[in-house]
Amino acid sequence: MNTFGRIFRISIFGESHGQGLGAVVDGCPPGIKLTTDDFLEDIARRNPDEVGTTPRKEKDIPELVSGVFNDMTTGAPITILFRNEDVKSEEYNKYLVLPRPGHADFVASKKYKGFNDYRGGGMFSGRLTLPIIAAGVIAKIIIAPVNINAKLISAGGSDNIEEAIKKAEAEQDSIGGVVECIAENVPIALGEPFFDGTESLISHIIFSIPGVKAVEFGAGTKAAEMRGSEFNDVYISTEGQTKTNNAGGVSGRLTNGNDLILRVTFRPPSSIGKLQRTLNFATGQEEELEVKGRHDVCFARRTPVIVEAAVAIALADMKLIDNL
Ligand SMILES: Cc1cc2nc3c(=O)[nH]c(=O)nc-3n(C[C@H](O)[C@H](O)[C@H](O)COP(=O)(O)O)c2cc1C
Repeated sequence: MNTFGRIFRISIFGESHGQGLGAVVDGCPPGIKLTTDDFLEDIARRNPDEVGTTPRKEKDIPELVSGVFNDMTTGAPITILFRNEDVKSEEYNKYLVLPRPGHADFVASKKYKGFNDYRGGGMFSGRLTLPIIAAGVIAKIIIAPVNINAKLISAGGSDNIEEAIKKAEAEQDSIGGVVECIAENVPIALGEPFFDGTESLISHIIFSIPGVKAVEFGAGTKAAEMRGSEFNDVYISTEGQTKTNNAGGVSGRLTNGNDLILRVTFRPPSSIGKLQRTLNFATGQEEELEVKGRHDVCFARRTPVIVEAAVAIALADMKLIDNL
């Protein structure tokens, strides 16, 4: 369902244009200092005031509805609620018969038998990453001193990100991007050797972020072109540090004490101003579709903090499982 984790367990609720959205975080240990201020920096990073990002402006003030008392976690489920305020829904009615190519409109109506709240993409909106970030803030505290940093390293296949976005915007088109994430000070031997391996759990939650199309660790897909003599990471300390890090910090599905390194590929957003051909599901005829509304040209630009949160959530769960 819409829940991730065994012990540090998060559930996501809400829709893009409904009253609000949020997360319920269960399994958080008691006695952790937590206030709404702790969330603000990461939340702001999801909404950079930059070219190529949506003009929708939400305050995104977290409300700690349960699980926190006197600024301390109680050990009970933590509910974090965000209200939706800057909502413009009219544009979305037409997607009932003209589902946007590349978006979830069509499959969502099939899954929920037409009862889904389709406004703003409903549950399939990138806005649902806001609760993931909020849960990630708590996870980052739990896994300290692990330090996670992600950044957008390319957009539209170019490392000149600004230029690539401006060009796509001028052409009323959109582009994707690649985010690289590095986690330092990761404890050794987290994860399980089979189904709950480090790469599996991290990929599981990373693929919950809308628009993710690929995840790779360390040398990633380039590993197929390398010789063993080149790929093997040579030990340089009895703590398991290695000279290179082609494994991306994971050996035998367990964290190996080196930096965890992954790259996440995001697709271009489906919503583009450029005219597209699509099928009118009411008439059965092809039609032209112009997507109006407020969309990201390159939503990948907003995702580094989301990737950090996802990695933190997976590591927090792995850590708490390991402490059992
Ligand atoms: C932060 C964020 C913002 C997004 N903004 C948009 C957007 O403005 N327009 C759009 O078409 N898709 C946007 N998306 C992607 C869609 O939510 C996603 O493509 C859609 O749910 C279909 O899922 P899929 O791409 O994983 O198949 C965004 C995703 C994220 C993570």
